[in-house]
Amino acid sequence: MVTQQQYPATVGDMVEWCAAELERGGVYFGHGTDNCRDEAASLVFGVAGLSHDEALHSPAAVYQRELAPDCAPRIAAVLRQRIDERVPLPYLLKEAWFAGRPFYVDERVLIPRSPFAELIAVRFAPWLTPAAPRRILEIGTGSGCIAVALALAFPDSRVVAADLMPEALDVARINVERHGVGDRIELVQSDLFAGIAGSFDLIVSNPPYVPAGEVAELPHEYGHEPVVALISGADGLDSSRRILQDAARYLTADGWLALEVGAGAAALEAAFPSVPFVWPEFEFGGEGIALLPAAGLMGCDDLKLI
Ligand SMILES: C[S@@+](CC[C@H](N)C(=O)[O-])C[C@H]1O[C@@H](n2cnc3c(N)ncnc32)[C@H](O)[C@@H]1O
Repeated sequence: MVTQQQYPATVGDMVEWCAAELERGGVYFGHGTDNCRDEAASLVFGVAGLSHDEALHSPAAVYQRELAPDCAPRIAAVLRQRIDERVPLPYLLKEAWFAGRPFYVDERVLIPRSPFAELIAVRFAPWLTPAAPRRILEIGTGSGCIAVALALAFPDSRVVAADLMPEALDVARINVERHGVGDRIELVQSDLFAGIAGSFDLIVSNPPYVPAGEVAELPHEYGHEPVVALISGADGLDSSRRILQDAARYLTADGWLALEVGAGAAALEAAFPSVPFVWPEFEFGGEGIALLPAAGLMGCDDLKLI
């Protein structure tokens, strides 16, 4: 047990100490970082209110800086919660980064980590036609991170962002306001397409896709996330099947569906052999986003049989 007097004095020493404690604590990384040191830096910078940009440009100046006297105990308290309760760091800091921007998060929503960020960064090139979608639908918006990133990537678009859970929409509203896109994003409570009207050039969804039987095997950290954001039936594909079945009715003639199913990709391919799935590869990690043009979905015999 480290007493207050023993806390490291500088930012750099505190990061090293936190990293060692995280290593010793055996925590799981999967919510924004993938190693002790990056997680420790996020923790220290987040609690101390330090700028990662400044550290990139003048690392020595930031890492040699002395922490304010009240800061070390606050960092230690967050560290203890991270280790003892296995709370993912973004919930403790109330912030997660997605597509290069900060989003408010708490335990009402999944912590953003979708590879959709990479597709949005290149504006879905080379697939999307029209290249600048005017009407976009996101199903299962959670924190609103994808809807906000889409609205910012396509400044002439209007986005409908839907979620089953009113409490998730309350979080999404915070992020929509924070990023100044409230005039172009409509938040809608809806069970998949049930409350949706009209047609869209692009439908995006990262629905729940963990098989029910697998959730208990996930690291403890995932137990802090809303179960409705993770599980979707016995094979994890209940929501995805329904989205595939209904999407064509909500797409414009040259619109696209982009559906994330993660490790469920092979199961989906096997279940729907006539559906022309395209699976982009990702440079920065993640897998299993299917891209499907409306024309490819229409008339697929597999989908009629669902
Ligand atoms: C995997 S999370 C994705 C959240 C966010 N889009 C992201 O990528 O970080 C799935 C989201 O779908 C929502 N959801 C689950 N079932 C749904 C349904 N039947 N209709 C609409 N949304 C649903 C959950 O509440 C959750 O916010």
